[in-house]
Amino acid sequence: MREITPRKIIEMKGKERIAMITAYDYPSALIADRAGMDIIFIGDSLGMVVYGEPNTLNVTMDQMIFHTKAVAKAVKRALVLADMPFGSYEIDTDEGVRNAVRLIQAGADAVKIEGGYDHRKLVRKLVRMGIPVMGHTGLTPQRYLRLGGYRLMGETEEEIEEILRDARALEKAGAFAVVLEFTLADVAKLVTEEVSIPTIGIGAGPYVDGQVLVWHDLLGIYENTPPFVKKYADIGGMIRLALESYREEVKDGRFPAREHYWEFLDKDDFRRKAQRVLERLGEDE
Ligand code: KIV
Repeated sequence: MREITPRKIIEMKGKERIAMITAYDYPSALIADRAGMDIIFIGDSLGMVVYGEPNTLNVTMDQMIFHTKAVAKAVKRALVLADMPFGSYEIDTDEGVRNAVRLIQAGADAVKIEGGYDHRKLVRKLVRMGIPVMGHTGLTPQRYLRLGGYRLMGETEEEIEEILRDARALEKAGAFAVVLEFTLADVAKLVTEEVSIPTIGIGAGPYVDGQVLVWHDLLGIYENTPPFVKKYADIGGMIRLALESYREEVKDGRFPAREHYWEFLDKDDFRRKAQRVLERLGEDE
């Protein structure tokens, strides 16, 4: 069992802020774990940042399992959380349970679903079975067609009510935390005060119990990122510079340099060996 458990995450509320990051493969998960992340999350955002899709709606259970296995192999300390993709839990509770089980068997410690109130029955069932669940409200990207795009949530009374209702339903059903995405900070603060489980914000301001960012956004892999992202590095720029240097050195012959290859010191010895090989091959033909 990994060091950070859902119980520890709950205990952190009000004491220590929770640091969560997405990761989708073995090397990134290894680095994230060594950097001391509390939660390493295989988000369905992989559809966009890894597979180049315009949204998350085409992500499959097979993709989530494939990436969860790679991340789970790398992580020793953090809680490994796997996202349930669009269509894998909404149709009926039994299918949701079956798919959550597949993610746990792939190595996840917990699963995340988008929504709250509408899925309270599923959350309760999973928790009773022993599968820890994180909910997700505010902007829920799997519903972006209905929401009319990726937009800030919580301006109207109806939206505030929906967000709070989701968070309360998740708490009551036994979820161990809830993500609040792209939500006005006042609303995120209200929810954080109203529920006993930790709130983890992304674009929801500072008055929450933790933060989550997407690996590619935080590291500056792409030029365009959501408006709430802080880029902690320009890794995309660094990779491009490195690749440009490599290409230039291949083109002008500077790579490989003398330290990157091996050759016979005794050229006569090599010539004799090569001669014999050439003769043998000539005879064979
Ligand atoms: O899939 C994802 O990366 C997410 C985060 C934005 C929380 O759901």
